[in-house]
Amino acid sequence: MNTTHQINPSEASASVSFGPGQGDLTRLDIRTPWSRAEVYLHGAHVTHFQKHDEPPLLFLSEASRFEARQPIRGGVPVIFPWFGPRQELPTHGFARLSEWVLDTVALASDGACQLAFRLPRLQEWATGRPYAVEYLVTVGRELRLDLKVVNESPRDPFEFEGCLHTYFTVGDIAALRVTGLEGTRYLDSLAAGAEKQESAASIAIGAEVDRLYVGTEAEVQILDPSLKRRIRVAKAGSRSTVVWNPWIAKSKRMPDFGDEEYQRMLCVESGNVGPDRIELAPGASHTLSVTLSSEPL
Ligand code: BG6
Repeated sequence: MNTTHQINPSEASASVSFGPGQGDLTRLDIRTPWSRAEVYLHGAHVTHFQKHDEPPLLFLSEASRFEARQPIRGGVPVIFPWFGPRQELPTHGFARLSEWVLDTVALASDGACQLAFRLPRLQEWATGRPYAVEYLVTVGRELRLDLKVVNESPRDPFEFEGCLHTYFTVGDIAALRVTGLEGTRYLDSLAAGAEKQESAASIAIGAEVDRLYVGTEAEVQILDPSLKRRIRVAKAGSRSTVVWNPWIAKSKRMPDFGDEEYQRMLCVESGNVGPDRIELAPGASHTLSVTLSSEPL
């Protein structure tokens, strides 16, 4: 059943409707004066954000699964409490596989629509530590994402990795440049995690890339001449930036990703992973905030 909630009926400025999305998973459709967005309760996964006068900002694979036990391929998977593979446990943690709770829907002072999600406590993938995770998705001119983790233990520290694994739509992967990472260090997953220095003034992608840039807090930009668009990834509470594109061979190996789709996407992921992982003192909290915006290039 679809239900629509008009947030500000007098001006009809924003609305949120609830209904079945792909695979019958529950989806929220958000409209604001500037943009549209879609968010699934499965993973609190933002699968779509588009300003009215631009192509979609987020890439979503046409081959994505929409199943309760599978991650969605594209949009913004929420990675928590670990990044990457972990023995018998799901790669990139369980947050992206969990059904989140929508706590509130509100209108921000500037007219943007704010949705507050909470990760329920799950026995099956419990870490043995008491913690709470809140995720605020703000849809307006920009897409703002705030992931807050609270260590509820009065005695023990809580260590975790977190990442907003954002897939961007690009016009032509071979034509774009990424700026904001020059002079930084990265761990190259394609070279067994070897530490390297980013020497390029702007990064071009011409092959598979899977890099964890450490200690990176500056804004990253994707300059996309093909779509004539500049994407800005501004962040706070994040020291890691992962840049990933599977290129040709890996795309073919991935069952939930089209063979040619690597040409139209790039992941620039903001978080705290590997050596930048967070250790929270008892009672402490940490918020990872990412603001995604775009403008003509
Ligand atoms: C990236 C990793 O963040 O996610 C890559 O750096 C990985 O190594 C990619 O391949 C996709 O992971 P998954 O689990 O969504 O297929």
